[in-house]
Amino acid sequence: MWVVKESDVDSVCKNYIGGQWVEASSGETFESINPANTSEVIGLFQRSRTEDVVRAIDAAHAAFPGWSRTPAPARAEILLRVGLLMEDRKEEMACLETREMGKVLDEGRGDVQEGIDMAKYIAGEGRRLFGETVPSELRDKWAMMVRQPIGVVGLITPWNFPVAIPSWKLFPALLCGNTVVFKPAEDTPACATRLVELFEEAGLPPGVLNLVTGYGPEAGAPIVEDERVRMISFTGSSVVGREIASRAGRALKKVMLELGGKNAMIVMPDADLALALEGALWGAFGTTGQRCTATSRIIVHRDVAERFTDELIERARDLKVGPGLEPDTDIGPLINQQQLETVDKYTEIGRQEGASLRLGGKILRGGAYDRGFFYSPTIFDNVVYRMRIAQEEIFGPTVAILPVSSYEEAVTVANSTEYGLSSSIYTQDVNTAFRAMRDLEAGITYVNAPTIGAEIQLPFGGVKATGNGHREAGTSAIKEFTEIKSIYVDYSGKLQRAQIDVEQHGA
Ligand code: UN1
Repeated sequence: MWVVKESDVDSVCKNYIGGQWVEASSGETFESINPANTSEVIGLFQRSRTEDVVRAIDAAHAAFPGWSRTPAPARAEILLRVGLLMEDRKEEMACLETREMGKVLDEGRGDVQEGIDMAKYIAGEGRRLFGETVPSELRDKWAMMVRQPIGVVGLITPWNFPVAIPSWKLFPALLCGNTVVFKPAEDTPACATRLVELFEEAGLPPGVLNLVTGYGPEAGAPIVEDERVRMISFTGSSVVGREIASRAGRALKKVMLELGGKNAMIVMPDADLALALEGALWGAFGTTGQRCTATSRIIVHRDVAERFTDELIERARDLKVGPGLEPDTDIGPLINQQQLETVDKYTEIGRQEGASLRLGGKILRGGAYDRGFFYSPTIFDNVVYRMRIAQEEIFGPTVAILPVSSYEEAVTVANSTEYGLSSSIYTQDVNTAFRAMRDLEAGITYVNAPTIGAEIQLPFGGVKATGNGHREAGTSAIKEFTEIKSIYVDYSGKLQRAQIDVEQHGA
């Protein structure tokens, strides 16, 4: 069985290499635990190292010629089958997500749904994968561009969307004819294992997708180092992203990075305040604030700041923190002890910086709370843009409120961080909305909606330190996971020299 029962921690989940479920060469394993109840072991997983990664790359490399020459519509059929299997197993996968990652069950379902959406969207691309034909400047000559696979690609994914984010990468990478080595976050290997099992069940040929579990420095770094891996797609922290980019850059690999965010919601005086409040609660505390797109700053106009803040505090006070599987829980646990300490450290930083802590700021203790990593929803008011709590990604249920006096000031404050992932504005003035769509330095802007909730048919990603110019999902997905080849066919039977033998017409 792939998931270890509480009573049965002897069973061990394996790596998937060349179509076989195999142990790591070290023989070592690590545990994945439930962050809402740390005594519950979700499973034991292989602690992989360079040797295992090299084996996975060998398998991916060997499978590449066969897979890359399989017609794209045939590749798409298999991927569609994976999506349909996910649909079938949605509830079971969502429960596993909640147990392993902690998010509330409804959000677990949403995460799996995002994977299903991606599978279906990408399956359709199997019969598109558009190239371009353009006229040649010469007679009897054909000019076109086609998309070709890149080769072996390495996918390194985070724990916060343990099905959706791997899906954003796996489905397009495979559809485009690449073969894959997949290293999921060490906090959520069971979700990744479950997902890979579905690819196997759907009939993906051996070696096309290979799974290695383990820790970043041991099982991730060797993927980045191996010269046979031609592209790395990574979602995670900016610190690790910079490291990957510099190492992979030396080997001239393509590197697609999806990194941090410090996403701002602007609330203008003409906003529908009730709507803005709903949005703020969902954007800031949904997924316990553990989204790269989470609303971590609310920039609110002084005319409405006091009313908005007081009401937000009242509403946030009523949110119920608890295990994600309990039906009345609004906010689940944080992912692990380290994250709990980081979030608490930022509460202390905010206090020392002179922001007003208006709600929460505590590790929750007593009863069921003692078994997991629970933190109270936390609201800081009177935050100034240069404070660390307004600049650094916290990745927890902590939101900073920054009062401002004008639209111009709101935009300056919104753009004052190194990140540029998501952004939002609440206003009923169409002119202000369009200005914000232009002015906010972010890869995503929402009008009258919070900073979270991207759909897979549009590109996803950010500017500045959020990434390195790439986008996932939408039409970008295909662009990112292919190489372009330009092809010229001269059927004139003679040498024709471009730029020289061109016909001149007109004056
Ligand atoms: C992330 O924040 O890490 O847009 C991914 C959203 C989700 C994906 C978030 N669809 O909030």
